[in-house]
Amino acid sequence: MFELKRRPRRLRRTAAIRDLVRETRLSADDFIQPYFVVYGESVRNPIGSLPGQFQLSIDELIKDAKEAFSLGIKAVILFGIPNSKDSVGSETWNDNGIIQNATKALKDSIPELLVISDVCFCEYTDHGHCGVVTKTGELDNDATLLNLQKQVISHAKAGVDMVAPSGMIDGMVGAIRSALDDEGYTLTPILSYAAKFSSSFYGPFREAVDSSPQSGDRKAYQLDPANRREALREVALDVEEGADIIMVKPALPYLDLIRELKDRWDLPVAAYNVSGEYAMIKAAAERGWLDGEAAMLESLISIKRAGADIILTYFAKEAAKAIS
Ligand code: PBG
Repeated sequence: MFELKRRPRRLRRTAAIRDLVRETRLSADDFIQPYFVVYGESVRNPIGSLPGQFQLSIDELIKDAKEAFSLGIKAVILFGIPNSKDSVGSETWNDNGIIQNATKALKDSIPELLVISDVCFCEYTDHGHCGVVTKTGELDNDATLLNLQKQVISHAKAGVDMVAPSGMIDGMVGAIRSALDDEGYTLTPILSYAAKFSSSFYGPFREAVDSSPQSGDRKAYQLDPANRREALREVALDVEEGADIIMVKPALPYLDLIRELKDRWDLPVAAYNVSGEYAMIKAAAERGWLDGEAAMLESLISIKRAGADIILTYFAKEAAKAIS
């Protein structure tokens, strides 16, 4: 005879008992939907490597965001595709630029929707790097900071509810905080891409916004995927400089860091379930190699279980439907 006192399977026997002891739950409140905004009207260009995602003109963006909002998704992050690029990305601080106009239109038609702007330059520079580049081809950190200040003020004037700097520029959070405060935007939070890795999983995104560097790569500013402690130093600096929410990006290959941020800091933790993570599941599901919906929900629950309070994901609408 066996004398097994501990039988963990007791709590897994039926769906009802599994529901009772489930530790992590997804909710539409957790999600932020990323959008790619283009000029024009009635534009809804499918993005080949991101099935189900589109480049949207502002009128189409509003329709889509209304649908998302009705599914319970209350926050969006905007990426702009400008009509013209230059060496410094000056379109980013054009008060009539694509992000500024999209923000005004969204806030007019869905006032309760939280509009977050991605704050970077790579979609707006002709060389595709995330700021000003010196003659020798290096990113000019401090010149980029001054331009970041112009960009966030222009976004704030347009009415964004939150700004999300994504360039891994030294001092970006502090520079943005002081610019916002000087102009009276003391209550505009900063969601910092605090630990952003130099990742191959951004491939589909760069196709979506045409932002691949014309030469070189981003290894001189984005983090080395091998470095955990360096990532923590980066996050510590952003916290000191005044970040309100700290983000890890990508999500799935960096779950250890999500957990570590959650344990070390008392700020909300966000994770960006990036384009490549989405594309992999979509591609495998299209071939019938895995159950797309189940894989989506398992990925998202893993990100939340690891410690993310907030998940930026192209799955937002699909997942909101699946869990409702
Ligand atoms: C930079 C930015 C990138 C992503 C979000 N913001 C790309 C990059 O650093 O090359 C990637 C998002 C994704 O892959 O889904 N503006």
